[in-house]
Amino acid sequence: MKPLRLGIAGLGTVGGGLVRLLAAHGDRLALRTGRPIEITAVSARDPGKDRGLGDLLAGATFYADAVALARDPSVDVLVELIGGETVAKPAVEAALDLGKPVVTANKALLAHHGLDLARRAEAAGVSINFEAAVAGGIPVVKALREGLAGNRIEGVFGILNGTSNYILTGMAETGASFADALGEAQRLGYAEADPGFDVDGVDAAHKLTLLASLAFGAAVDFGAVHVEGIRGVSALDIAFARELGFRIKLVGIAKAADGGLDVRVHPVMVPAGTALSHVDGVFNGVVVQGDFVDQMVFEGRGAGAGPTASAVMADIVDVALGLRLPLYGVPVASLGKAEVIPVTAR
Ligand code: NDP
Ligand code: HSE
Repeated sequence: MKPLRLGIAGLGTVGGGLVRLLAAHGDRLALRTGRPIEITAVSARDPGKDRGLGDLLAGATFYADAVALARDPSVDVLVELIGGETVAKPAVEAALDLGKPVVTANKALLAHHGLDLARRAEAAGVSINFEAAVAGGIPVVKALREGLAGNRIEGVFGILNGTSNYILTGMAETGASFADALGEAQRLGYAEADPGFDVDGVDAAHKLTLLASLAFGAAVDFGAVHVEGIRGVSALDIAFARELGFRIKLVGIAKAADGGLDVRVHPVMVPAGTALSHVDGVFNGVVVQGDFVDQMVFEGRGAGAGPTASAVMADIVDVALGLRLPLYGVPVASLGKAEVIPVTAR
């Protein structure tokens, strides 16, 4: 059977994790998909960097330019693991315009340009898969797009940023300072290139925008989402909350309200003993309320090389199997227009 030939753009935390995962499970995945999965080309900024990958990339062509990688005729699918927009967007567009499916972990790109990219993908008859863009290893995109497709989703909420949850947990459990806990999250590869995205709630809002669009089958405007991060949360706030029986968590909430959508990210006093209260460290937790299934709770590692590579590979397996689903679950032309109600009006 014809191999599926990957072009991996980005060899950092997630890209490196993916290369290791394929090395560990390539044979099993070939049995599962009926075709070998091979890395034919890679791209990164620095060709000379020691990435600790030994000879796992021997034979793969190295590109400094991700667009050139996307256009390489020996690449069947672009796996975009760079982040941001400057380089990632033209590379993803180049792949789609050539009719190549894309797998990406880039929530920032999709939160801002998802509609346009979904249109391009539909025009080209290929998919953009983004399981890794939301909640790391938790397969919540698949849950909303496939497993819960039989439901009208009434709400989705959760802890969607591993770095800020790691910081809040460190401050609560070990008395770590905000700065030290953030430094450790960066060292472990959890944080964004600009960690302001993590601690200011922007990354959680990117993910929530995607979840809300999927859950409600509607185009959700990222700019309308209320976003507040954890910089204002002190060790004293955490201690007082605990005394009163609460945990402070950065929570994203999306629910139907007043003919529109209520979509916001901010710190929340979560009652101890409830689903999100014990989601600690780098773990994420997502709660989905469906009209037939009732409440579902998903929990798992929300960032890091292994969990994120696991989600990226799930998408690659879908591509290898020929599964092609619209980015938001329905074609762009069928998306509803749900207005996000400003937080001041709530
Ligand atoms: P890293 O910073 O670890 O890796 C980024 C990679 O992209 C590096 O290999 C880097 O090259 C390459 N790169 C950066 N800028 C350029 C450029 N201008 N041209 C070419 N290549 C470039 O990022 P992560 O692996 O952490 O994240 C990748 C994506 O995955 C992001 O979208 C992130 O939001 C998302 N994500 C990350 C998770 C995590 O836990 N880290 C979890 C879920 C999603 P070089 O190595 O040479 O510097
Ligand atoms: N920086 C992100 C986080 C990575 O900490 O959750 C996973 O998307």
